[in-house]
Amino acid sequence: MLVSFHSMQSSLFRTKNPNELHTEVSALKRTLTFKDLTALGIAAVIGAGIFGTIGQAAYDGGPGIIFLFIITSLGCLFSAFCYAEFAASTPISGSAYTYAYISFGELIAWIIGWDLFMEYAVGNMAVAISWSDYFTAFLKGVNIEFPLWLSMDYFTAVHQKSAAAQQAYVHAPRIFDFPVIVDLPAILITVLITILVYIGIQESKRTNNVLVVFKIIVLLLFIIVGFTTVNTANWSPFIPNGWSGIFKGTAAVFFAYIGFDALSTTTEECVNPKRDLPRAIFSSLLISTLIYIAIALVITGMVSYHDLNVGDPLAYALEKTGLHKFAGLLSFSAIVSMTGVLLVFQIGQPRIWMNMSRDGLLPKALSRIHPRYQTPSVATVLTGGSIILPLLFLDLKEVVDLTSIGTLFAFLIVCAGIWLKKEKIKTESFTVPFIGGRYLLPVTMLPVLYLYLHTVSTENVFSFTQIPLYSCILAMIATIFYGSVRNLSLLPGIGVCLNLLLLSTMHHQNWIRFVAWLAIGLIVYMTYGRKHSVLAGPSTKG
Ligand code: ALA
Repeated sequence: MLVSFHSMQSSLFRTKNPNELHTEVSALKRTLTFKDLTALGIAAVIGAGIFGTIGQAAYDGGPGIIFLFIITSLGCLFSAFCYAEFAASTPISGSAYTYAYISFGELIAWIIGWDLFMEYAVGNMAVAISWSDYFTAFLKGVNIEFPLWLSMDYFTAVHQKSAAAQQAYVHAPRIFDFPVIVDLPAILITVLITILVYIGIQESKRTNNVLVVFKIIVLLLFIIVGFTTVNTANWSPFIPNGWSGIFKGTAAVFFAYIGFDALSTTTEECVNPKRDLPRAIFSSLLISTLIYIAIALVITGMVSYHDLNVGDPLAYALEKTGLHKFAGLLSFSAIVSMTGVLLVFQIGQPRIWMNMSRDGLLPKALSRIHPRYQTPSVATVLTGGSIILPLLFLDLKEVVDLTSIGTLFAFLIVCAGIWLKKEKIKTESFTVPFIGGRYLLPVTMLPVLYLYLHTVSTENVFSFTQIPLYSCILAMIATIFYGSVRNLSLLPGIGVCLNLLLLSTMHHQNWIRFVAWLAIGLIVYMTYGRKHSVLAGPSTKG
């Protein structure tokens, strides 16, 4: 009994030796340069978040939403340092999954691999839904009416009270009395992107570079033109609904930043990953952050935050200020931008599965490489399928929330992983600069925690819904204490604390769904992955 507990424990925490990873031969095609990688990073970051979901966040938080953009960008910046160090020293493309395997061992690696489904596949569901909304609105702008029953998910049509939902339900054709309601544009764009990603990374990157240049030009134009129409009265009051109003938008704003980390899934397709990946991670995050902060400031000055509760806030602000033609161009740019996000995420998910499969944690077919196209073919097709099915019944808010919580959790693990990385990886290109955390971690993070606690509502303090908040705060205190006592590196420590702070602001329903997803993953691991793991000894396998 004692022996089997011991063997179970050691199997759950068996780690990969980072210095042996280079022996895993990759059949993928190496074609990505620094420029391509930066374009891929920007493509993945700037999409449905800034064009769509931040509308509600600005409505809740008012112009003060800009503070949330700044806090979130800092959380991302410290996480980016950690991603960059791992990416510079890990020659395979498993991203946070591989990094966790090196630092924490197999169980946490599995949890993160399973969790990353939330970022890439669920993230793409969100972007595909938003893409469809913008696409049908764009068609309307050129006088083409797309049937509502063909541009909505089934549950929204059945349960929502809006006029559009009711119309979709009434006009939907029936099969045996059952209304046929599907979001066809969302499904079609997912199929198209899957085909593109299946055919090859070279084709994907060329398409992407063009898309990115176009979207940056349009967004810069938006900032310049929008700035000339700013009415400073709209900035007063700056924080109309207090900090709790601002933090309501965490999932939406964080969603807008997700994507720079996806670059770490392309390691095996980079010409010089050690040199280019860290630089591309930073440059894409920096460019996106500057654009976001400028947009947040401009848009809340163009129109009152009261009016921003719409699915297309940027186009709406232009319409409201009389810039109709530009609004049309912006909607078109939104469609283009989201196509870029879909592309990068659809590249990311199969490569995570491919790595998990190589390690034996998922079936072997998922690491099969197409002999001609040199892409993970089975995993790519499965990714497309796993996005399309839930598109039939999930709504936008649910998928955005899930994507954000799942990605924040991955960021948290990657930051903590830098602390825990046991074997020193030989890194020539980039390491997180070491600044001892003995004094600086408490000196920087305790005041942040103190200020944050002042923003937390004092209602329902004993409710079970507060468990995530209390758990995150306790974890933050433990992190500060541990990092200080052991004088660990400051920057990953701040990354852990800020990610915990952002996680603590997530709605409890979001936490319940997230924990349920991880619990399902744990069952799959216990029944399949643990036994088939490449690191498993013969006793476990038998
Ligand atoms: N950051 C990506 C977007 O906003 C996920 O679409």
